[in-house]
Amino acid sequence: MRAILIAGNWKMNPGTLAAASALAQAVKDGLGHDASVHVVLCPASVHLGLVDQILEGSIIGLGAQNMHARPDGAYTGEISGAMLVDLGCTHVILGHSERRHGMGETDTMVNQKLHAALSAGLIPIVCLGETKEERLTDRTEHVLLTQLEGSLAGLEPVQMAKVVLAYEPVWAIGTGLTATPEQAQAAHAFIRNRLTAQFGAATAEHVVVQYGGSVKPDNALELLACPDIDGALVGGASLKADDFLKIITAGREAARRKANS
Ligand code: 13P
Repeated sequence: MRAILIAGNWKMNPGTLAAASALAQAVKDGLGHDASVHVVLCPASVHLGLVDQILEGSIIGLGAQNMHARPDGAYTGEISGAMLVDLGCTHVILGHSERRHGMGETDTMVNQKLHAALSAGLIPIVCLGETKEERLTDRTEHVLLTQLEGSLAGLEPVQMAKVVLAYEPVWAIGTGLTATPEQAQAAHAFIRNRLTAQFGAATAEHVVVQYGGSVKPDNALELLACPDIDGALVGGASLKADDFLKIITAGREAARRKANS
């Protein structure tokens, strides 16, 4: 059975080191040592070192929100995979829609970063998802297929098994609109079918596919209980420790139900 992975993408929040350290400490204290779901915090890059120190001795993973595809060199303002590992990172988010749509990141760039992240020993969380207009014009599956083929090009099944995917419909991010469990499950099943076609059934069954887009304490369980939804990539609600911990509790309940089904 796939473990459930709940990750908090803090984006460009909170605004101070003090607030970031308080948030990480509150999540650590609230989580305890229950390892039935996997938890990762993804603070801003300038807060990674401090959050790593706070998380020491806990079971919480540390993720960056982006990285550069090259291992070193003259790339002003960029951060390499090896630097992230050195800071204590276990994960890195790649191809978030705010980078695809806001900063022109393409599937090819995501693919280069993905290969670099795996080489550096990081677990990549590769984001994909359609815009509202693409959904309304029935192009969701076409968009997901294009993003999957482009972003995952050149991977061997053994590499794919280390990758996490996050289905994040762009229209659901930060809007309060959530995909219904039926919409999300259908997209996740489509993604897993494509993984089966490209990498084989054993690998596809192994890959964790998270859902992201306005996940909140009151909708987390119905989403996480869906058979092909293996976790959540949480934005806004991960900035409040209480809400994030409630989503983790929902993840534990979903894991329990799946184990018994
Ligand atoms: P929200 O949970 O704020 O909608 O953000 C989702 C997201 O973008 C996570 O990466």
